[in-house]
Amino acid sequence: MSDTSSPPHNNKLYIETVGCQMNLLDSELVVAALRKQNYELTDDVKSADTVLFNTCSVREHAEHKIYSQLGRLKFSKRSRPHQVIGVLGCMAQKDQTLVFKKMPHVDLVVGTGQLSEIPRLIEEARAGRERALAVSLDRKASSRDQVASSFESYDPLRDPEMRPSPYQAFVRIMIGCDKFCTYCVVPSTRGPEQSRPPREIAMEVAKLAEQGVREVTLLGQTVNSYRHTEEGKEFRLADLLRLIHDTEGIDRIKFVTNYPKDMDDDLLQTMRDLPKVCRYLHVPAQHGCDEQLKRMKRGYTVADYRAMMERIRKWVPDCAVSSDFIVGFCGESEEAFQKSMALIRECRFKNSFVFKYSARPGTKADNLFDDDVPEDVKRRRNNEMLALQNTISEEDNADFIGNEVEVLVEGPSKSAVKAARVESKRELKKQLVGRTPCDRIVVFDGNPRLAGTLARVLIHDCTPTTLMGTIVTREIQHGNTGLLPILG
Ligand code: 5AD
Ligand code: SF4
Repeated sequence: MSDTSSPPHNNKLYIETVGCQMNLLDSELVVAALRKQNYELTDDVKSADTVLFNTCSVREHAEHKIYSQLGRLKFSKRSRPHQVIGVLGCMAQKDQTLVFKKMPHVDLVVGTGQLSEIPRLIEEARAGRERALAVSLDRKASSRDQVASSFESYDPLRDPEMRPSPYQAFVRIMIGCDKFCTYCVVPSTRGPEQSRPPREIAMEVAKLAEQGVREVTLLGQTVNSYRHTEEGKEFRLADLLRLIHDTEGIDRIKFVTNYPKDMDDDLLQTMRDLPKVCRYLHVPAQHGCDEQLKRMKRGYTVADYRAMMERIRKWVPDCAVSSDFIVGFCGESEEAFQKSMALIRECRFKNSFVFKYSARPGTKADNLFDDDVPEDVKRRRNNEMLALQNTISEEDNADFIGNEVEVLVEGPSKSAVKAARVESKRELKKQLVGRTPCDRIVVFDGNPRLAGTLARVLIHDCTPTTLMGTIVTREIQHGNTGLLPILG
C-alpha cells in the first residue's frame, strides 16, 4: 500500500454496486483508482479489509438492502480491526451523518460528487483518523453555481481491465438533473445538471476505441438535455454525436436516458443520418394519465408524449423505444392506471421498466401528497403492467423469427445456459450472448473467441426478453455496409 502510516492490512477490495448505469460507471472508476494503489478485487466480503457499497436512493427497497448488508458487517471489525467500510453514492449524499448514526461501524460516507477523494479517505481512515464525511452542498444551501461546483464529475483516466466487457463502455456526458420530478431524489443526490465539454468526451471515446472498445453508451440522467456552451456556440447531444461518430474503431453509439420534452427533431434527424448511432431510445413516459403526469411535474402531457413518438417513427422508423412507468403514485385511480396500460398498448414499447411508487423523504411528492395506493394494489398493478408489456415484447420479438440480425458478441451467456437447461460444461462454453443495434438480447451457439466481434445471427425462436438464433457469419466489417437489410 502506498501510505506507510497505514497499519498492516490486506489489499483485498470488496465493492457492491446497486442502481443505475451511472453507479456502475462510478464503481468502475473507483475500482480503477484503487487498483492503481495495488488493491485487488475480491467477491468474498469476509476476506476484504476494504469494503465499499455504492448505493442507490431512488426507491426505499434499495436503501433497506444496503442497510441490512451493512448491519451484517457490524462485528466484522472484531476479526479485522483495520477493515475500512465505506458507503458511496446517492444514499451517502442523501443520508449523510445518518449513515454513521444507524451504522456506527461505517468509516466513510462519500457522496456522488467526491468519488475522487476515496483513495485518500480510505488511507486516512485506516491510519486511525476520524470517520470521514465527504458530501456536496444541499441544493437549497447555496447559489446554483456553488452547489454545482460542489458536485465534481468523476471521470479520470480509464482502466480497460475494470470494464465489465472490454468491448463496451459507458461514457458520462453530463451529471445531475434539473427536472425535479416530484417523486425523485436524483436532483438532490446527483446535484445540478452539468454537461462535460465535448472535446473532453471525444478524447475519452477515442481513448476507449484505442483500448478495443467498439460500443460506447453515453450517460446522463436526461442525456438529451446535454448542453454545453463554448466560445459562444451551443453544443447539443446531436452535435456531440456528430463529433464522435467517425471515431475509428467505434461501431456503435448509444445514449441513455432521454427526457421526452428534449427529444428534438435535430437529434432524431442526426440519428437517422449517422449509421453508427443505434436505433434505440429509452424515453421514460412514467405515466399515461395527464393528472398523474402533472402531479409528477413531468412537464408534458400524454398528447405531447404521443406526438414525440410520432416524430420518432417519422424520422427513425426502425427505432426501438423503451420506457419506464411508475404504478401506484399518489392518487392513482384504477382509471388512471388503465391509461398507462393504454399508452403501453398504443406505443408498443420494446420493453418497459415498471416501478411501484416509493415515497422518498425530502421530495415534493412526499411533502405534498398522500402515498395512498395500498401496497397490494401497487403490486397487482405492477404485475398486470409487466404481463401486458411481456405479451407485446414477445409478439414484437416473434417478428424477428426467420430474419437475420447484427449482434455485437458480448461473450458466454449464463442465463441462457440456465434457460436452455444445458448440462455439460462443454456446451456451456458455447452459448454466447450479444445485442442487436436495437438493444435486443440474442443468444446463440458459437466459439467464445467471437466475443467483441460483430456477427450475423439468424433468429429462429424468442421469449419476451431474448431472441434465439444461429450464427450465419463471424464478423461484419461494419454495421451498415450495404449488406442485406438488417432488423434489430
Ligand atoms: N418510486 C418509484 N420509482 C421511481 N423512479 C424514480 N423515483 C421513483 C420513486 N420514488 C423510477 C422512474 C425512473 C426510474 C429510474 O426509477 O421510473 O425513470
Ligand atoms: Fe429523476 Fe425526473 Fe430527473 Fe429523471 S428527469 S432523474 S425522474 S428528476
